[in-house]
Amino acid sequence: MSYADVYEEWKADPEGWWMRQAERIHWQVPPRTALAADGATWFPDGTTNTCYNAVDRHVEEGRGEQAAIIWDSPVTGAKETITYADLKDRCARLAGALAARGVGVGDRVVIYMPMIPEAVVAMLACTRIGAIHSVVFGGFAAHELAARIDDATPKAVIAGSCGIEPGRIVDYKPLLDGAIAQAAHSPEFCIIAQREESPADLVEGRDVEWHAAQEGVAPADCVWVRGDHPCYILYTSGTTGAPKGVVRPTGGHMVALHWTMKAVYGVDPGEVFWAASDVGWVVGHSYICYGPLLHGNTSILFEGKPVGTPDPGTFWRVIAEHGVKSFFTAPTAFRAIRKEDPKAEYLAGYDISGLRALYLAGERADPNTVEWAQEVLGVPVYDHWWQTESGYPMVANPAGIEALPVKVGSPTVAMPGYDVRILDEAGAERPAGELGAIAIRLPLPPGNLPTLWNAHERFRSAYLERYPGYYNTGDAGLVDADGYLWIMSRTDDVINVAGHRLSTGLMEEVLASHPDVAECAVVGVADDLKGQLPMGFVTLQKGTEKSHAQVCEECVALVRERIGPVAAFKLVSVVDRLPKTRSGKILRRSMAQIADGAEVKVPATIDDPAILDEIAEDVKALGYPR
Ligand code: COA
Ligand code: AMP
Repeated sequence: MSYADVYEEWKADPEGWWMRQAERIHWQVPPRTALAADGATWFPDGTTNTCYNAVDRHVEEGRGEQAAIIWDSPVTGAKETITYADLKDRCARLAGALAARGVGVGDRVVIYMPMIPEAVVAMLACTRIGAIHSVVFGGFAAHELAARIDDATPKAVIAGSCGIEPGRIVDYKPLLDGAIAQAAHSPEFCIIAQREESPADLVEGRDVEWHAAQEGVAPADCVWVRGDHPCYILYTSGTTGAPKGVVRPTGGHMVALHWTMKAVYGVDPGEVFWAASDVGWVVGHSYICYGPLLHGNTSILFEGKPVGTPDPGTFWRVIAEHGVKSFFTAPTAFRAIRKEDPKAEYLAGYDISGLRALYLAGERADPNTVEWAQEVLGVPVYDHWWQTESGYPMVANPAGIEALPVKVGSPTVAMPGYDVRILDEAGAERPAGELGAIAIRLPLPPGNLPTLWNAHERFRSAYLERYPGYYNTGDAGLVDADGYLWIMSRTDDVINVAGHRLSTGLMEEVLASHPDVAECAVVGVADDLKGQLPMGFVTLQKGTEKSHAQVCEECVALVRERIGPVAAFKLVSVVDRLPKTRSGKILRRSMAQIADGAEVKVPATIDDPAILDEIAEDVKALGYPR
């Protein structure tokens, strides 16, 4: 069957098509309804369990001795292979420990862990008993963790004692303690996985060590939950500072991920799949943990960086050593490797001939990087486009069905489930080749968010109200005459730094809290390595005695302390005035254009155009445009 046939088959009968895909997972009670009357809930009357489908099922079907997870940690020198049978045992024991302490269906559990097997075990153990996990990326600081604890109100937190970044140990436990102290909500208990690199002190009566928590506890069986039961909450950045809790429904999530493993990533059960990301991001949820395991693949859990752990040959070693067939990472990782090893000399001695394709997502895949990767690896490089909200590719090259010709710079075509449209300001459809907002005709397919945690109104206003009848993706772009999508930019204040989605609005909130700052603006500027970097502009309160340099230093420290190192906020300038429209709206776009050395589009409503020249001088002092 060709891609066009599959897409048409879906379009002719979307619900029937998804019902057939749903047959690939195990249901305790198979769903009779595909899409509920609300137009957003899939498979509500089926019952199933995510951990059962990702783990137990494979043991029962004879994959018990196959590797489920290969942990490869160049930062510690450790490696470990965990079979499906081992994984089942570990999940059942941890789930038993959670259940024994009162965690049950619908209770939330926050997970704050580095890239160690316990992180995946923790996620699966939660789904085993119907608890809803919310993983928080380790690069976020205590304040951000506290905001998520207050929104998700977890009964328990599962954390690692530390994470390991090149050249430094990041103690997670003090960050967790700080977050719990700041949060209004207190979890009843914390389970701490101690790492020998930096074991943590435990708080008596609240914290229990990972193994101790499981001692003398009966392993827990899988609990069947409804298809629309939330599997997890994952917070992501929006326009405002408050993170959005994307809710992932159990049934649709499994059905959709299972489908993508072959159709998009081209792997058969038993083969090795690697997504070099972090469990704190959606890529880690979908393609380190759930997708490969649901499909019976072996998933690589890599604790390291593309460069410096120990060298730019690390990726090639992992691919060769573990027989990776399909590999997924962010373009920034390849930019980092290319920068250090432009001729790919570190590839020598590694046999990566088993690799079939590289998949890039999370940020724009620039043609130079795609072409370099293609040349070095000698396999197709597929850009694909999706977001936390969808949980899996919306637009991709369906290589497992039919590899379509690659147009470098385009993530290719819409996947079944997605009717992608380009709309103008008024919501009318734009012709092929013309730029507009990228929107998806409702209903969204299975697995996509049905709501935001505790914030249904925000869900409606953030995604559904701008274009009635459509889901607004927040991206702008065009579809060409061959139906290929081209992503151009975001339509909101979200920026993408090293594949990490960050809110400039949140950074502005932090800067505004600095006692010497009167007004501020943060914009994203182009960066060769990370794609984008945040750049801040602040004006000072009258009478401030501190030097500009000191205020800048404090601003950088404040963002790192409040949001975390992941914000990569290092560029900031004290300016006399911010450019605004006559109605007082800050002209962030013009400032970003100045910093990028792009053509500056000055709105007719600008209050005082001379301010833009002042900004150009300030930006120059920061070394921009590059
Ligand atoms: N825990 C604690 N700190 C973390 C962290 C974690 N899990 N992950 C990152 N950080 C810190 C980094 O140490 C760095 O701190 P620094 O300012 O002291 O140097 C900061 O957060 C920024 O991290 P990051 O943006 O990841 O950049 P980096 O300097 O570590 O290098 C590259 C990253 C450039 C090598 C990049 O190519 C890369 O691979 N990034 C990760 C891509 C990725 O996985 N994206 C996920 C979406 S698919
Ligand atoms: P996240 O939710 O963190 O996965 O970020 C999703 C956002 O990253 C999208 O809305 C896009 O802005 C951007 N993005 C993801 N994949 C791509 C891609 N292939 N090309 C361009 N931008 C992308």
